[in-house]
Amino acid sequence: MVAAVGPTVHVLRDPEELAERVGSRIGELAHAAFRRELPFRLALSGGSSPIPLFRWFGGAGSSSIPWEAVHLYWCDERCVPPEHPASNYGSAFRTFLAGVPIPGENVHRLLGEVVPPRDAADAYEELLRTAAPAGRGSSPAADLDLALLGIGPDGHTASLFPGRPSLGSERWVEVEMEPPLEPKVPRLTLTLRALAASERVFFLATGAEKRAIVRRILLPGPEPPLPAAQVRARSELAVYLDTAAAEGLPAASSLPVGASGP
Ligand code: 6PG
Repeated sequence: MVAAVGPTVHVLRDPEELAERVGSRIGELAHAAFRRELPFRLALSGGSSPIPLFRWFGGAGSSSIPWEAVHLYWCDERCVPPEHPASNYGSAFRTFLAGVPIPGENVHRLLGEVVPPRDAADAYEELLRTAAPAGRGSSPAADLDLALLGIGPDGHTASLFPGRPSLGSERWVEVEMEPPLEPKVPRLTLTLRALAASERVFFLATGAEKRAIVRRILLPGPEPPLPAAQVRARSELAVYLDTAAAEGLPAASSLPVGASGP
C-alpha cells in the first residue's frame, strides 16, 4: 500500500470500536463535503469486515451522517441479483441502507445481475467518469472521496486477486470471471487504477485470522506485492485493525515509512 504520505496503521480494541472510529471519521469527512456543498463519494466493499461499520451507519450514523451529501458506490460486486445472499449491495441494504435517510438517487450499485458482466462494468465506468467533479475532467480515474476495502486471506482486495489479469488493467472497472475463492461467481471490481484516484483509502481487517496476511501486506518481503499491497490513494491510505489482527506487528518505527504502529 503506497500513498504520498505512506500508510497509517490504526489499532482499535475490537471490531465495534473500530466501526465507531471509522464511522465517526466518515461522518466528519461527509460533513466537510456537505459544508462546501459537495457530494461525498464513498465506495463500499463486501465481506464480513465492514458489517460492524454498516451496523454503526444504521445506528449512531443514521442521524450523525449527512446522508443527503453521501453518494454510495461499490468497490466490487458478485454477479448475482441484488436480493441474493451473496450480493454486496444486498448485504449493505439489509444491514443499514434500508434504514438510513439516503436519497435513492445517491445509491449507485454495481449491477451484478447484468449479463454479460462486461456490460455492467462498462456502464459503471461510464457512471464514474460522468460523476467526476467539474475541474477534474482530465483525472485518470474515478475520483472517489473514500474507498473502504477489505483484505482477503490470499491478499486480494475488492475482487482483485493475486496473479489475475485484472490487476494490470488500464480500465476503471473489470470483470473477474474465475475468482479463486468462494463465492466462485464472476465478480465486478474497481481496478487499482480507479482506486488510485480515490482521495482516501481505508482498509478494514479484524480477527486473528487476518494476522498473517496483514503482516505480509504491511511488511512485504522479496516476493511480488499482493493486490492489497499495490493499492494507492491520493492523500490518505490507512489500515484499521483490531488488536487481534494487529498482534505481533512491530512497533511503529519498524513499519514502512509513514506508518504508525500499534
Ligand atoms: C468481497 C470483497 C472482498 C473482501 C475480502 C475480505 O466482495 O468479497 O469486497 O475483497 O473485502 O475478501 O473479506 P472479509 O471481510 O469477509 O474477510
